[in-house]
Amino acid sequence: MSMNPDTLIITDVAPRDGLQNQQVAVPTEAKLELIRLLHAAGVASVEATSFVSPKAVPQMADAAELMEHVHRELPGLRASALVPNLKGLQRAQAAGVREVAVVLSATETMNLKNINMGLAQATEVCEETLLAARKMGLRTRAYVAVAFDCPFEGPTAPDTVLRLAAAMHRAGADEIVIADTIGSAAPGRVKTHFEALRQAVPVDQLAAHFHDTRGLAAANAWAAIEAGVRRLDASVGGIGGCPFAPGAAGNAATEDLVLMAEGSGLATQISLPGLLQAVAYAEARLGMNLGGRSIKWLRRRYAGPEAAPART
Ligand code: COA
Ligand code: ZN
Repeated sequence: MSMNPDTLIITDVAPRDGLQNQQVAVPTEAKLELIRLLHAAGVASVEATSFVSPKAVPQMADAAELMEHVHRELPGLRASALVPNLKGLQRAQAAGVREVAVVLSATETMNLKNINMGLAQATEVCEETLLAARKMGLRTRAYVAVAFDCPFEGPTAPDTVLRLAAAMHRAGADEIVIADTIGSAAPGRVKTHFEALRQAVPVDQLAAHFHDTRGLAAANAWAAIEAGVRRLDASVGGIGGCPFAPGAAGNAATEDLVLMAEGSGLATQISLPGLLQAVAYAEARLGMNLGGRSIKWLRRRYAGPEAAPART
């Protein structure tokens, strides 16, 4: 699987990572409209939802209905769903999902808080879920969460992340997503982490997932790019944050990463004015101000009657 080094593949995780912890109930139709707008903006890959316990995350209870609509309306879109176990995988398969993601946190406590099992059991469950997904012919992503710091256990040992990433690679994950769940990483650490990870997992199969808690998400994304990574997760408008990880803020904003890529000679196929429409829609639906670090400038840049998407 070789990748063009001048292309950046962004997976927009707003519909899942972004909407899973909203206080207001977001109707299925609004989630679908957000996904339509992302697709229209040129986003080729989204994480649409999760097939988790509706008691744990009531916001994702409509996963099956949403995925059925997404597949019918947007057959060309890569739309993945997070699954915590075999039950989630079976529900996803029944809904026609073609790509799933498992989540393995790098610490004992974070796994307990998130999926109610310790690290050893979580590793086994992720492995068996990946193997079963591959038998079903599905594409797979595996998150290694709290890969830099854990809100409960402090700094995560890079060796642990390496070991877990290698285990997910051996279990057949097509993509391993190294996640800075609470947004505490800094570029220097990101670079050394990914340079070490490249020894365990082919860099084409590595992805990076940052949160912007401390304002360093774009810098961290750039450090990952410098280490050879060409797959990044982001969330339009910077919506997001794990409900089980205290202190987690929104994700790296898709518009910030696209702007960074454009200015750095990396192609994304994503339209900034298109993303602005998605941000505006999410703001209206969620009743809050959204947008990454660049949002004010982007709005000025693309404001006015001549600001059609064709201008990009
Ligand atoms: N989808 C829907 N229901 C599920 C499920 C899934 N993937 N997995 C388990 N369940 C149901 C069980 O059937 C059982 O239902 P019942 O009470 O009606 O009998 C109930 O949930 C409890 O099952 P159990 O296996 O004991 O799970 P648990 O209570 O230990 O919870 C998880 C484990 C993984 C299901 C739950 O913690 C979870 O969904 N976590 C997801 C967290 C998340 O999304 N975090 C953000 C993303 S990183
Ligand atoms: Zn996240």
